[in-house]
Amino acid sequence: MPKIALDDVTPNNLGVVEKINAVTLPFNYDHSWYVESLQQNEGHLLQLAFVNELPVAALKARAITEKGHSAPASVYIDSIAVLEAYRGLGLAKKLLDWLVEESKTRFLHKVLVHVWQGNSEAVKQWYLKQGFKEVGVLKDYYKAKGLENPDAVMYVLEF
Ligand SMILES: CC(C)(COP(=O)(O)OP(=O)(O)OC[C@H]1O[C@@H](n2cnc3c(N)ncnc32)[C@H](O)[C@@H]1OP(=O)(O)O)[C@@H](O)C(=O)NCCC(=O)NCCS
Repeated sequence: MPKIALDDVTPNNLGVVEKINAVTLPFNYDHSWYVESLQQNEGHLLQLAFVNELPVAALKARAITEKGHSAPASVYIDSIAVLEAYRGLGLAKKLLDWLVEESKTRFLHKVLVHVWQGNSEAVKQWYLKQGFKEVGVLKDYYKAKGLENPDAVMYVLEF
């Protein structure tokens, strides 16, 4: 049985999160996008997952204040990514479970995510399997990324 563990993201291993995302996600984010998440630590929730001590999956999320609220009440998933060879081991589920528990301690009871419309059906199915509900489509959400079919499907998990 592989040994699976989670750990916090620090300035020393932030580059690993960036690398995992770079080889996994359909588009890249600037280096500053990662650095800012640690600099403005407040409200950011980052976690790495390890298999036999190797970092192979990463979650990046942050508390957000939705329209109509005066303070953060939700969490937005910026990215969740598992290296291809390590999928199906329950790593993303473990990262999501961590996020839900961590959110509860901060009195945040909702997780939102946008999935690029052109992403695989497998990714969309994964969110549904975890209990997320599809709540709409945002037109041109990923237009700045220069993607074909730049709409985003929005999923929400409440707890
Ligand atoms: C989506 C993703 C994060 C899932 O990671 P994963 O670690 O393989 O998923 P898990 O092993 O935690 O899956 C947990 C459950 O979902 C199921 N599952 C996994 N992949 C699935 C799929 N393609 N379709 C349906 N269910 C799936 C598993 O069977 C498991 O179910 P179980 O608990 O009943 O056994 C991974 O495929 C990935 O990194 N994709 C590319 C990156 C990406 O596009 N991320 C999303 C954009 S933010």
